[in-house]
Amino acid sequence: MPNSKQKNHANVSTLLDESRIFSPSKKFLSNVQIKDDSLIKKAAQDRLAFWAQWASKLTWSKPWDKILDWTDAPFAKWFVGGKLNACVNCVDRHIKAGKGQKKAFIWVGENSDQRTLTYADVFAEVNKLANVIKDLGITKGDRVAIYLPMVPEAMISMLACARIGAVHTVVFGGFSADSLQSRINDCEAKLLITADGGYRRGNVLLLKEIADKAITGCPSVKNVLVVQRTKSSVKMISQRDHWYHELLAKAKPQCPPEEMDSEDLLFILYTSGTTGKPKGIIHTTGGYMTGVAATTKWVFDLQDEDIFWCTADVGWITGHSYIVYGPMANGATQVIYEGSPDFPQRNRFWKIIEEHKVSIFYTAPTAIRAFMKWGIEWPKGCDLSSLRLLGSVGEPINPEAWVWYHEHIGRSNCPIVDTWWQTETGCILISPLAGITDLKPGSATKSLPGIDVKIINEDAKEIKEGGGFLVLTSPWPSMLRGIYGDPKRYKETYWSKWSENIYFTGDGAKKDTDGYFWLLGRVDDIMLVAGHNISTMEVESALVDHPAVAEAAVIGATDEIKGQAIVAFVTLKEGKPSLDRIEDILKAHVANKIGAIARPRQIILTADLPKTRSGKIMRRLLRDVAEGRALGDVTTLADVEVVEALKKKYEHVES
Ligand code: WTA
Repeated sequence: MPNSKQKNHANVSTLLDESRIFSPSKKFLSNVQIKDDSLIKKAAQDRLAFWAQWASKLTWSKPWDKILDWTDAPFAKWFVGGKLNACVNCVDRHIKAGKGQKKAFIWVGENSDQRTLTYADVFAEVNKLANVIKDLGITKGDRVAIYLPMVPEAMISMLACARIGAVHTVVFGGFSADSLQSRINDCEAKLLITADGGYRRGNVLLLKEIADKAITGCPSVKNVLVVQRTKSSVKMISQRDHWYHELLAKAKPQCPPEEMDSEDLLFILYTSGTTGKPKGIIHTTGGYMTGVAATTKWVFDLQDEDIFWCTADVGWITGHSYIVYGPMANGATQVIYEGSPDFPQRNRFWKIIEEHKVSIFYTAPTAIRAFMKWGIEWPKGCDLSSLRLLGSVGEPINPEAWVWYHEHIGRSNCPIVDTWWQTETGCILISPLAGITDLKPGSATKSLPGIDVKIINEDAKEIKEGGGFLVLTSPWPSMLRGIYGDPKRYKETYWSKWSENIYFTGDGAKKDTDGYFWLLGRVDDIMLVAGHNISTMEVESALVDHPAVAEAAVIGATDEIKGQAIVAFVTLKEGKPSLDRIEDILKAHVANKIGAIARPRQIILTADLPKTRSGKIMRRLLRDVAEGRALGDVTTLADVEVVEALKKKYEHVES
């Protein structure tokens, strides 16, 4: 394999093979921005001064008096006293710099629709929308809920809120009426921006109908702004509902930006919690913008001529940080795609990359595994030579998928940045810097400059080599500032396991002899089998390493003898000849790869795995299935049928 060299290391794990190293190609290196470790050295010398230097690359209307106030830990204040506006930083300043004609969005609809918006176009529409929102009675600090498909109006709505100091809360367009209702009620949004519908796999999802159902139970919502996307027939309630395009046509063209304090709320984004009640994660302005703007440049090596494509929906933190605020603060040109990767065919993504000459592509392991399952003939037929860097986010990427992505999408020429972060962290915290970090498939490598990530044990003792809990030991600019309306839950969830100075990520990780981080998933995904810690992810990686396996989800089911026994739910690749006794073959394969201790008690073949709408496997539900319990909270599940089918299958296997 090109660019791969072997190193001799004692293995921490049999499967997470630390000896495989990929160095960046000459072609990539010839044009990369970060070529040496001066950034890392600077951050190590004076962390706060380092962050202040990156903050000063933003446009501030008033400079800050103090970089960090951590006296009331864990409630941080960054760039205290500074004033700025996020929308000005994402739009106005590029126009001032003469880049109004640069493309901001190349939007591709799932059907054949396409729209290109320059920064000047975005500026014009954001200003008008900001005036519309103001005329609907929204002022600084008010909450606005956004429930839209992936259309330019979604990004424009977020920026228009930021312009006038309103706090947006984007709810993913795939969420149900109940989920939308509980989020709106939690933050008491006054305005909802939605659409008549959205396209998904050729079907129309009637968003307005769902929104109508939701807001019957939302007394705070006074107005609804409706984007016309599908021209589906909708019921408009007079006084309350307004067509977006009609009000925009009448709106004044200029809306002066609100001067915001560095610590004023920028947005609330809901993420699932263990108790079922979603947590409204809050992010403020100055620190968040500093974190996302800087990391976009470092991690993706974003340059003026790049065409950047992050496939996330704007309803997730990835869409907030790496479609709207990070790339736009850097004046990027981005591809935005509305629909599904397999519509009308399984090569849709590759066709888009070919047509628009995408140079940086950022997606999720779950998507990569789907591409693997569909087979290499789909990307093979497309010209992907414009790509120069690939990214991954959302869950650990198994080495098998990493290598596939590298070879078949990156043509062994593009580094892969495996980026670890969370809704709560705001920006990427662990990732390679592609010009200087050697890559190991399956490892997110090292923490970014200015970020203090450690692995500790139960007694808060640092583990320099080996596994434990992943924590942050210093505040960072884009950290969450709390849970909306619930400071107690904020403290308890993140800052109480050891002390109010140690942020617990909830993830397990290990560090190898080179100091590389290997993420092992949520700590509740660690199984204890006959007294041994085995991560679900290790067993999943072993399974996916078998040529017949497309995807695997592993859980520890209660077992009288072993404490926990390994149960694996497996989907097989399409188009492969079926193997006799495949379950036994796979059990032996895992035992062979990791050791007999990790041999699954059961392998259950299934056509699909239950996933959240952002693509994470819901292991909790699989545990419910395996232990014969009633299913817990299923509101975040993308397709309820999948678990029902699994339940039947499992009961059948058991009986
Ligand atoms: C997981 C998504 C391993 C992790 C940005 C984290 C990852 C949770 C990675 C946050 C990665 C995200 N490697 N695990 N590169 N990226 N995770 O809030 O468990 O949707 O705690 O943010 O996803 O998910 P969230």
